Amino acid sequence: MHEPRKLYVKSFGCQMNVYDSHRMADTLAKEGYVETQDPADADLVILNTCHIREKAVDKVYSELGRLRKAKQEDGRDTIIAVAGCVAQAEGAEILRRTPVVDLVVGPQSYHRLPELLAQAKAGARPVDTEFPTEDKFDHLPAPSAAATRSRGPTAFVTVQEGCDKFCTFCVVPYTRGSEVSRPVLKIVDEARRLVDQGVREITLIGQNVNGFHGEGPDGKTWGLAALVERLAQIEGLARLRYTTSHPRDMDDALIAAHRDLPVLMPYLHLPVQSGSDRILAAMNRRHGRELFVDIIARLRDARPDMALSSDFIVGFPGETEEDFQATLDLVDQIGFASAYSFKYSTRPGTPAAGYGAQVPEEVKTDRLARLHARLEASKTAFDAGCKGRRFDILLEKPGRLPGQLIGRSPYLQSVVVTAPPAGIGELLAVEITEVGPNSLAGRVVEHQDVEDRGLASDRPLAAMEA
Ligand code: SAH
Ligand code: SF4
Ligand code: F3S
Repeated sequence: MHEPRKLYVKSFGCQMNVYDSHRMADTLAKEGYVETQDPADADLVILNTCHIREKAVDKVYSELGRLRKAKQEDGRDTIIAVAGCVAQAEGAEILRRTPVVDLVVGPQSYHRLPELLAQAKAGARPVDTEFPTEDKFDHLPAPSAAATRSRGPTAFVTVQEGCDKFCTFCVVPYTRGSEVSRPVLKIVDEARRLVDQGVREITLIGQNVNGFHGEGPDGKTWGLAALVERLAQIEGLARLRYTTSHPRDMDDALIAAHRDLPVLMPYLHLPVQSGSDRILAAMNRRHGRELFVDIIARLRDARPDMALSSDFIVGFPGETEEDFQATLDLVDQIGFASAYSFKYSTRPGTPAAGYGAQVPEEVKTDRLARLHARLEASKTAFDAGCKGRRFDILLEKPGRLPGQLIGRSPYLQSVVVTAPPAGIGELLAVEITEVGPNSLAGRVVEHQDVEDRGLASDRPLAAMEA
């Protein structure tokens, strides 16, 4: 008997890469590969890479440097594959720059991995960065029940891929191609199968997820609201989320879905990037500050317990102190439960890379620190406002101490519960009793005491007061 071949996959970047890595592992499971957490033990290493900022790309090349050293030291003939957005953006250039790489595969060609692997084993160093006409999803096998169980009670499902927005700073329209939505019934099947295998929470993912426009079972084009409504009917599915949305595509139907569907969590990641209209225009975001503020107001109207998270970029070319102040002011005005903030990174081939008035590095560093502090204060206020609130927690994993489990609140906060009368994968009603910087703690309460989901809470939310 041969030992099974071992696969090590490392994901960089966004949730779609996490999802894609699972699908690659599922594909290779059919070829006899089992996953390992140790690259030194692997016959095949796949780096599923991100191209969004320069630092993300640097990480990939330093990882490749480490792999090269390890390969030289232990003399194994491990196959090294580069997948994801760096693969798509740089293609054959990766082979030139890093001789250790045996195979380069872009995000639209993962179903061709077995074939590419055979070529790599024959010494060919294949590169596949095409946008093939066939649909990869039709050829990627579904996960086995055991694989789904090992990934826990939450799962991602890609519903849409690519972006047609062309923000002037962003590489995604080039690395992921133009917007393609999957047909509704294929998504429903995938979701149902996951739920049958024990998944309780599904996050629908797409680079522009609320721009979803998939073919419905009636032959018409369905938007995200209709898709979500259909998925809400799956018995056993306790929670639905979707990410990442664009403000421009936050339509009335989707806002109404937040009012009508308790399964939809009252938490939305809605990137805004900047609070300055001038900068938003230069970024080609296709909306101003007012539209963003208005959408949030309508979402909170529909679902008073709604909390927000967002992405911000500081130091976009031409950003003045006054523009930056407008961003700080927006944070205070909205109040975010969580947020990501980044220094603008010049990306080759994007329009903003050629703009004059690039902001000096030390100014970016200073602004990032100030924005970060403001966002931290916003998050801390939101978390503090959760003390005494009663939520359903989805138990996900063991805690640090014996008898503890860690679950997630509707707002994705980690909540530690001691001696819970339920196990991983179950929902438990808890009252938040302690608020720490990285997690909350709760005590078990009766289920009927949980906040009436979808109805106004009598307790004002910290985020709304801010
Ligand atoms: N599709 C999503 C997010 C795409 S990338 C959206 O429309 O917002 C995730 C985040 O990375 C972006 O929201 C943005 O804040 C950040 N980002 C993208 N390109 C960047 C760049 N060149 N420099 C710094 N941050 C960037
Ligand atoms: Fe990038 Fe803009 Fe598309 Fe988001 S909407 S992926 S930031 S181009
Ligand atoms: Fe990065 Fe590609 Fe996702 S560039 S953020 S891995 S879409």
